[in-house]
Amino acid sequence: MTNRTELDEALEGVLISAEAIQARVAELASELTRDYADKDLVLVGVLRGSVIFLADLVRQMTLPLEMDFITLSSYGNGVTSSGAVRQIQGLATDLTGRDVVIVEDIVDTGHTLAHLLRTLRKRHPASLSVCTLLAKGNVSDPALAPAYVGFTIPQQFVVGYGLDYAQKYRNLPDIAILKPEVYAGQDGEHE
Ligand code: PRP
Repeated sequence: MTNRTELDEALEGVLISAEAIQARVAELASELTRDYADKDLVLVGVLRGSVIFLADLVRQMTLPLEMDFITLSSYGNGVTSSGAVRQIQGLATDLTGRDVVIVEDIVDTGHTLAHLLRTLRKRHPASLSVCTLLAKGNVSDPALAPAYVGFTIPQQFVVGYGLDYAQKYRNLPDIAILKPEVYAGQDGEHE
C-alpha cells in the first residue's frame, strides 16, 4: 500500500504549492465570472486530469453555468504524448449556440487541445475558448493558445492536483516534480 511517506519519496520537490494554486484559481474564476456574465456558459472538463481544478474553479465562480465532461487519453501510462488522442467518453450536452470553455489541467504538446477544438467546433457553439491551469509553452500555433492560463511551467514531468503518472499522484494537493527514476525506462505508451 502507498502511504504519504512513499508518495513524498517519489517526488523531487514541490513546483507550485497548494496555496499558490488556490490563489491563482481564485483569479481565474474572477476573470471567467467577469468575461461570461450574461453568457450561456458551459464548462467542458477534460477527464481525468482536470477534475480537481474544475471542482475548485467552479466553486469560486459566481454566475450560472453548466458542466459536462469528456474523457480523452493520449499518454497511456507513459510520460510522453503518443500523439494519438483517444476519446473514451463523450459529452451529453447540446453545445449549439452556447458559450463553451474547455477546462484542462495542462497543455503540453497541444495534441489533445487540437483534437478537442476540432471536435467541439462541429457542435456549433456560439464561442469556444480554453482555460488551462498549466501550460508548458510548447504550442506555437496561435490558434491553439489558451485564453486563460494559470501558470507557465518548465519542461519537467509534473504530478499532483489532478495530474498523474500511471494514474497515481492525482490526489496530491501541490503540483510536484516526479523523480526521473520513478519513470525511468517507462517512456511512451503503456496501458
Ligand atoms: C493529459 C492532460 C491533457 C493532455 C495534455 O491527459 O490532462 O489532457 O495530457 O497533453 P498534450 O498537450 O501533450 O496533448 P492524459 O492523456 O494524460 O489523460 P488524463 O487527463 O487522464 O491524465
